[in-house]
Amino acid sequence: MADNIDQIKREIESFAAETREELENFRLRFLARKGIISRLFDELKLMSSDERPAAGRKLNEIRKLAEERFDYLKSELEKKSAQSAPETDYTLPARTKATGHENIILQTLGEFVRIFREIGFKVTEGPELEDEFHNFDALNTPEHHPARDLQDTFYILNKFNNKKYLLRTHTSPVQIRTMLANKPPVRIVCPGKVFRNETVTPKNYFMFHQVEGLCVDENVTMRDLKSVLSYFFRKFYGENTRTRFIPSFFPFTEPSAQVDITCFICRGAGCKTCKNSGWLEIGGCGMVDPNVFEAVGYDPEKYTGYAFGMGIERIAMMKYGIPDIRILYGNDIRFIEQF
Ligand code: DAH
Repeated sequence: MADNIDQIKREIESFAAETREELENFRLRFLARKGIISRLFDELKLMSSDERPAAGRKLNEIRKLAEERFDYLKSELEKKSAQSAPETDYTLPARTKATGHENIILQTLGEFVRIFREIGFKVTEGPELEDEFHNFDALNTPEHHPARDLQDTFYILNKFNNKKYLLRTHTSPVQIRTMLANKPPVRIVCPGKVFRNETVTPKNYFMFHQVEGLCVDENVTMRDLKSVLSYFFRKFYGENTRTRFIPSFFPFTEPSAQVDITCFICRGAGCKTCKNSGWLEIGGCGMVDPNVFEAVGYDPEKYTGYAFGMGIERIAMMKYGIPDIRILYGNDIRFIEQF
């Protein structure tokens, strides 16, 4: 048995396992229930009682040796396979960076302003927090006018100077600021946010965007207004878009008009979007009221001008068939990614 054990010992020590199968062969040969060592333990029972303790000790040693060799071979094999599997798979396609883009409102505003810039309008902006003078008084909107009602306007009281401010209800106060700061001629468009104290519905939101336009010079007429807006809508909605002007009322223009364009969905034939009329209402406009000129110190005998204002949400919703204004501010990625 002793010779046998020495031979087994050498065999264990020189055993190499390059693969999992070889490792398994090692286990089967030396450590399994039917392996060599187990069989030698069985033989132990046949020995005489003086031989047995020494042989038993040897066998225990050899079993320990086999277990240690097994652990060593196993860990070497694992190390090797960890090294051969690269941590980074360079063949995978690169992950694209999620970058944002302008939302549909800013895109529409940009397009709007670009067309006007091309025909000589300057882009200006004004504050969203306004006072009654710029938002109402100077725009010939008297104190009892319904637009000044608490129901329509968000008022803000400054407790430090007790002055009343408001969130502008339209972009028209930028007209006033521009005229107060510049002498004629003036030719501007002013994009921006406006606020109305309204119940939120599919058509109304308490905040939306407008673009205001103003052109003041000597001899500016209604014809200029009509030709500029007609040109704009042809550029914006397509060459065969027609424009019509319907008498209306705004405190700051006289005469005032509502601007309609031919429905760009049915091209005037009548459809759901235009409620079968073939026309879509798109904004307000008119000739600047002489009272407005007086409020800003322009001579109404010398200068005339036209102004217009349009809601951007409405324009974008009609162009892209968006049925509910709230979708524009909902941040639903499935919507945002479409534009
Ligand atoms: N400020 C008006 C509104 O919010 C829109 C408007 C109408 C602006 C006529 C104008 C204009 O400059 O001439 O409903």
